Amino acid sequence: MAVLGIESSAHTFGAGVTERGKILANCKSMYKIGGTGMIPMKVADFHARNARKVIQDAITKSCICEGDIEAIGYTKGPGLGPCLRVGQLSAKTLADSVGAPLFPVNHCIGHIEITRQSFGMKDPLVLYVSGGNSQILAIAEEPFRHYKVYGETLDIGVGNMLDNFARAAGLVPAWGSKVAEVAKGGSYIRMPYTVKGMDFAFTGILTHSIKALSGSGVSDVAYSLQETSFAMLCEATERALMLSGKMELLACGGVAQSSRLKAMLGAMARAHGVRFGAAPDEFNADNGAMIAVVAEEMLRSGSEPEPPAIDQRSRPDAVRITW
Ligand code: FE2
Repeated sequence: MAVLGIESSAHTFGAGVTERGKILANCKSMYKIGGTGMIPMKVADFHARNARKVIQDAITKSCICEGDIEAIGYTKGPGLGPCLRVGQLSAKTLADSVGAPLFPVNHCIGHIEITRQSFGMKDPLVLYVSGGNSQILAIAEEPFRHYKVYGETLDIGVGNMLDNFARAAGLVPAWGSKVAEVAKGGSYIRMPYTVKGMDFAFTGILTHSIKALSGSGVSDVAYSLQETSFAMLCEATERALMLSGKMELLACGGVAQSSRLKAMLGAMARAHGVRFGAAPDEFNADNGAMIAVVAEEMLRSGSEPEPPAIDQRSRPDAVRITW
């Protein structure tokens, strides 16, 4: 018996299938982001057109039939309201059709759990870095079992900051991976550095970098921006590691695809004798498999199914963990 997960919080509509923790399929369609960024209603229309095919592809690829679906998970939030609604409605429609329970899943916990499971980690400190979010988390037992947020961005996510810089610099595509490409061979120029305890902020360095483009080469600015913002994340994560005493460190989310960030975190973890892991890129990008992983954990550990709902501002630390 299998579990199907649907992800639709932003530009990706994904459907994944798991069976006893094994990923059988992970299919997706991705909205191409143009110069205007993401207009939620347009992205939602794209998802609505592609949802049925992506879900069917996942079922076919995993060699199951609809009757084998034991439970269905969908991304409750955080994310863009119209996009979340398409995923939730797709999940509800399929759940009604096959008679399976529905489990709402927090997007951030999806990223964490698919990585934690793939490395067999028990109790890691987590650096979750994406477009919309940047947080440092670990499991805490009080007042209920949940992912406690040790530190987080005080303004925008690090991925959002990199994308905004890329757009201002005229890079195509305007993504962090393009910033990384341009940064190769750059020289360091001074940048603002904002870490407050285990929190950090990125709008200052973004504004400074955009202004610096008028006096410095884009390669130097991109290099300095990337080195400084990743160093900020590493410093705050190192502080949380020392405070929490955790012996495992996990990086997840879209920005965890960065080989430079992984190298910096890996070196820091090694210096403290801490095990480090980051999932393959396929699972750090948004995907349906991570939602299926959490829905299966919820199902097997006795979580109660919930009436369908979305929450654009859903926070991981408000979610009770039952596994
Ligand atoms: Fe994500």
